[in-house]
Amino acid sequence: MHHLAIFASGSGSNAENIIRYFQNKPQIRVSCICTNRPDAYVIDRAERLGIPVLIFTRADFYETDLVLKYLISNKIDWIILAGFLWLVPAYLIDNFPQRLINIHPALLPKFGGKGMYGQHVHQAVIDCKENVSGITIHYVNHEYDRGSTIFQATCPVEAGDTPESLAARVHELEYAYFPKIIEQEILKQQKT
Ligand code: GRF
Repeated sequence: MHHLAIFASGSGSNAENIIRYFQNKPQIRVSCICTNRPDAYVIDRAERLGIPVLIFTRADFYETDLVLKYLISNKIDWIILAGFLWLVPAYLIDNFPQRLINIHPALLPKFGGKGMYGQHVHQAVIDCKENVSGITIHYVNHEYDRGSTIFQATCPVEAGDTPESLAARVHELEYAYFPKIIEQEILKQQKT
């Protein structure tokens, strides 16, 4: 059994989609949600789905081993970032080598880096008059949005798109692909 922890700071619609996807898979389970925001809607979703939640502060995350100890005690072997906004500290990257995956709501390497999250990303894509946007699923390394790409999928940017309408189209790609790509990577590593 592979145990996933999902880190999320916001609504958690991807987290919920991933939890539901793996509910029917015997080999992989979402074992906990970890969040830095005590008011994040992802907490309501997790509670509804019966998934334990860890809420931590900035000091917990960057100055203690509270989060790492929690992950170890829950036998977590993969970390999935789904709308998690803080830079992942080195101790987590080092403890989960090639087992830490993020999704970014645009086609990296463009439109990534510090401050590029949520509607800021979609606004930047529209401002640059891009015809195409999409998702990038990638491993996490020590820099924002710079780890190796696992998968990308694209969608059109339509004339008259707002950040909200483009986000909705990108979200559809996220729901369709993120759980499957996570599963693919876990099963691939299992074989090696
Ligand atoms: C998604 O667009 C994801 O790509 C980005 O943050 C957003 C999270 O949305 N990293 P949700 O909280 O899963 O609804």
